[in-house]
Amino acid sequence: MAEIIGAIGSSHIPAIGVAIARKIQQTPYWKPFFDGFPPIHDWLAREKPDVAIVFYNDHGLEFFLDKKPTFAIGAAAEYISYDEGWGIDTIPPVIGDEGLSWHICNELVEDEFDITICQELGIDHGLTVPMQLMWPGNSYGHMKVIPVVINCEEHPMPSPKRCFDLGRSIGKAVESYEKELKVVVLGTGGLSHQLDGQRAGLINKEFDIMCMDKIVNQPEELLDFSIRDLVEIAGAQGVELNMWLAMRGALTGQVTELHRNYHIPISNTGAGTMLLSNK
Ligand code: DHB
Ligand code: FE
Repeated sequence: MAEIIGAIGSSHIPAIGVAIARKIQQTPYWKPFFDGFPPIHDWLAREKPDVAIVFYNDHGLEFFLDKKPTFAIGAAAEYISYDEGWGIDTIPPVIGDEGLSWHICNELVEDEFDITICQELGIDHGLTVPMQLMWPGNSYGHMKVIPVVINCEEHPMPSPKRCFDLGRSIGKAVESYEKELKVVVLGTGGLSHQLDGQRAGLINKEFDIMCMDKIVNQPEELLDFSIRDLVEIAGAQGVELNMWLAMRGALTGQVTELHRNYHIPISNTGAGTMLLSNK
């Protein structure tokens, strides 16, 4: 059977992709952030997952404001990254796992999640930047990827509890897939940030650290926040915490924190990095 071996939470700030392209990871501004990743690289090299399920939000590349699925899932053989205007090369396509995607889609609909199934899906920095962070030099060619997109741009947005439940349903679906596969789950985005308006630049370190603490073994204590609460406490884009909650929902075993890093600011954001194992 397929098993979920762990999860990685990561920011997906576009400027990270620019720093990678310019090879400035070791400069004083970037080093404290990039220093958070070697333990994750070591873990990935040791554990050798076959599939990455990536919870992220599409910032308008594939789903603009005119058509905004609450939850969308890729069911394609590959996913292409397009130029978002950051002045960097797009990354090579990521490879899909159509069999597992369709299994998850069937199970989700059975479980009353009415998802948008995408047989074509362009991927933006929400997915591409974390791929580059986890597999430096774009060395992810051996990985199969299942993109799961959660609306975080346009109200109404799904609640933290709903996102956690989506993750739980996906976790159960993976565990009922009969192929022997090792699966890692990524939650990308956050932590606190607000990119525009009067509160642009807002970061709430105390809240971010609290969320990272609770996500390990008391994630249910984060599920009563409303979207409005998250906007007020963590900024308009702090709602990206939902991706971490969906990620955590997918872990149904004994969860242990193996590594974390938190650094502010990276661009406008409290940049969190976290590695959890699931036994
Ligand atoms: C930034 C953060 C994001 O999550 C994003 O999608 C775009 C920009 C930032 O901090 O610059
Ligand atoms: Fe974002």
